[in-house]
Amino acid sequence: MKKILGLVASKRKLGNGEILVKEAANSIGEKFQLELIRLPELILQPCNACYACLVPDQRCPLIDDLYFLLDRLKDADGIILSSPCYALGPAAITKLFGDRIIALAQHIDDIWGKPCVIIGTAGIKGWDGYTLSALIANARLMGLDIKDAHMFIGALPGEALVNPESVERIRTLGEALFSKTRKLEEGQCPTCWSDLWKFPEPNHAVCPLCGQEANINFLKDRVQWDFISVGKRFEKEVLKEHFQVWLKTQVQEFYGRRKELSEIRNRYKPTS
Ligand SMILES: Cc1cc2nc3c(=O)[nH]c(=O)nc-3n(C[C@H](O)[C@H](O)[C@H](O)COP(=O)(O)O)c2cc1C
Repeated sequence: MKKILGLVASKRKLGNGEILVKEAANSIGEKFQLELIRLPELILQPCNACYACLVPDQRCPLIDDLYFLLDRLKDADGIILSSPCYALGPAAITKLFGDRIIALAQHIDDIWGKPCVIIGTAGIKGWDGYTLSALIANARLMGLDIKDAHMFIGALPGEALVNPESVERIRTLGEALFSKTRKLEEGQCPTCWSDLWKFPEPNHAVCPLCGQEANINFLKDRVQWDFISVGKRFEKEVLKEHFQVWLKTQVQEFYGRRKELSEIRNRYKPTS
């Protein structure tokens, strides 16, 4: 029996995110146990930026539910993450969780490669902003293996499953959790699946999440994408080197340069 962890970022009970998570779980094609956690019901604090979690065998000193969530991730065979789009981005609780990446990344070996599918919900087509890409960034930084990600449309609770195409799409998303990876859609980054691009020069695109690059040509009837390098940011060795090695050298550097940096910072101390 597969253990599925459903993380729901909406406070709305039986809202679109929750019912889509349940429908995706129902679609995996084998027996499962679903543990549903509503992220807004947990206590998650903003990162202190104290870097205490980098000290070996030391945990983040904030007293909240971060390690409870990490344990739930470790225990799961697969993860379904859902968030509504609020103000063109994901619900803030997903960012609070994602911002604790330095503490989480110290345990990346324990959750590396766990399959994950991502469900975004938005009220209006075209108003979904950067929601899905932000959720993709969160999951990739934690080392989860994204099998599918899709934005479902529906403003009213339940509305995201009115349309038969959405019902079909959530089923294929659920099926993907423990099976094949879905086919890439036009315009998506082939490495991380985000659909946000930067264009530093004409005909040159860079994925701001993973660093994938492409040459693009605007043909008469379509855009031709030639992917010229692989975005490496979410590779395990890169993430481990950044979060487990480089950041520690930065802490050491800070101690070495504390006096010099304090001279700059002290100019901005309150005077009264
Ligand atoms: C505070 C707030 C902000 C929202 N902002 C957007 C938005 O920027 N774009 C959009 O398409 N829908 C927006 N919506 C609509 C929700 O994304 C939509 O109703 C979604 O289905 C909610 O998912 P849920 O039922 O899982 O809570 C917003 C809703 C709320 C409550």
